[in-house]
Amino acid sequence: MEVGGIQALRAWRKRQSGTVSLVPTMGALHSGHRALMDRAAASGDAVVTSIFVNPLQFGTDEDFFKYPRPFQADLDVCEAAGVDFVFAPALGEMYPAAPEVTVSSGRMGTVYEGAVRPGHFDGVLTVVAKLFTLASPDSAVFGLKDIQQFCLVKRLIDDLNFDIDLIGLPVVRDEDGLAMSSRNEYLAPADRAAALAIPQALDAAAQAASDGSPAGVEAAAQAVLHVAAERGDLDLGYLGLVDATTFQPCAQDFEGQALLLISATVGGTHLIDNVSLEFHRSA
Ligand code: PAF
Repeated sequence: MEVGGIQALRAWRKRQSGTVSLVPTMGALHSGHRALMDRAAASGDAVVTSIFVNPLQFGTDEDFFKYPRPFQADLDVCEAAGVDFVFAPALGEMYPAAPEVTVSSGRMGTVYEGAVRPGHFDGVLTVVAKLFTLASPDSAVFGLKDIQQFCLVKRLIDDLNFDIDLIGLPVVRDEDGLAMSSRNEYLAPADRAAALAIPQALDAAAQAASDGSPAGVEAAAQAVLHVAAERGDLDLGYLGLVDATTFQPCAQDFEGQALLLISATVGGTHLIDNVSLEFHRSA
């Protein structure tokens, strides 16, 4: 496994004769990241994992300097996953000066998570575009838990004509249904029990969607979340049924792939989850 910055990555990339897959990360690697690397390696591609804490995607109230950076432990995870190149550039190498030209995530980057974290998705897409340019991968693997990030990266690829196959890895859930997240460790047992209203709401929505129409889907999820909210266990952030390509709310006659998005705060911890639902009039 090689480890290096921009020059080393470019030199390594030139030597590759086969296909290359990129797994972008900010380090502090856990089993979710490992699953992304395993997926990339399973395709037989040479795998590049980037480890770079990107200041552009942090808000003024989010502490970029306190973000965990367990570099040696991260390298061990990459080594065990069979990663071929770890791209770990210095901050000054990625941003020698504050960038003048950046990527705009548009309206789609200002709603839902984008409304909670203004400017976040512009920062994400700017660094992802730089990683795509530097690593020139044939494919890139992202988790579907951060679904708005995933859908925006899809728009980045489509709208700016990157020739990259985007692979989404399904949300990994614990046995009780809660989506795995490094933030789950902040949940006290009572908070965790309350947080289960989130996957339960998604299940209720999926059942309501089984007649093939969006009518009643949000209401079904809302009903489950209301019970938890009324008990005072959970503070609902947003709930929305949106078109996956635009993040515009779905009309009653919507057809195609929709996403039900949920965010909630439980015991001070911000949790997000989603489910993908297909609607077809003939169904
Ligand atoms: O999902 C993340 O870890 C980050 O947003 C990403 C895609 C590595 C960009 O910094």
